[in-house]
Amino acid sequence: MTMTPDPPPRGQVSRRSFLQTMGVSAAAAAVQAQAERADAAQPSSAPTTLSGPGPIEITLNVNGSDRRLTIDPATTLMEALRWHAGLTGTKEVCDRAACGTCSVLIDGRLVNSCMMLAYDAQGSRVTTIEGLARPGSLDPIQESFIRHDALQCGYCTPGLILASKALLGANPRPTLDQIKKGLAGNICRCGTYTNVFNAVLDASGQSPLMDSEAPDA
Ligand code: FES
Ligand code: FES
Repeated sequence: MTMTPDPPPRGQVSRRSFLQTMGVSAAAAAVQAQAERADAAQPSSAPTTLSGPGPIEITLNVNGSDRRLTIDPATTLMEALRWHAGLTGTKEVCDRAACGTCSVLIDGRLVNSCMMLAYDAQGSRVTTIEGLARPGSLDPIQESFIRHDALQCGYCTPGLILASKALLGANPRPTLDQIKKGLAGNICRCGTYTNVFNAVLDASGQSPLMDSEAPDA
């Protein structure tokens, strides 16, 4: 016979049910974030005919410069950036729109580059982490990540910085809740979220969280 655990007393929430609720909320926010990125990855002005199946030549505008690349037609934007253009700041982890490490900006909108064909990015402005800084100066959001030590291993950091950049571009003074939702599609395995939230708050002219206000990891 299967034993069903007693429900917690009225007015109390068990640790298990709390974590289950938090997990569902976080998952829902992440799913919505990924759906928005998938929408942004829809081709806008790419040519409508596609040749192949052999290698094809494409031109990508990356960080303000046109790059002529010879690729397999099935090459994703992430692969084209990393393996053909040598821009390895765009990271690969899941290759299925679940982690956000491959985030880039397409005409200022956040996209998971593992979910978009490089061919379809033609005609758009692609911005990678290598394109944020100017000679002699980092982007303010990069400076803020450094100030708040918002990284540990750093593998998720390019994606999180670009997601923060996109968020601040659309909403220059986001609330903490809006920051959490805006970054929900970017997973940090090292758990640096509080420092990341502080970096975005600071970059938008708002006070960082105090220790007592920080959400549990
Ligand atoms: S590698 Fe693209 S979302 Fe994970
Ligand atoms: S700093 Fe290591 S995965 Fe985020």
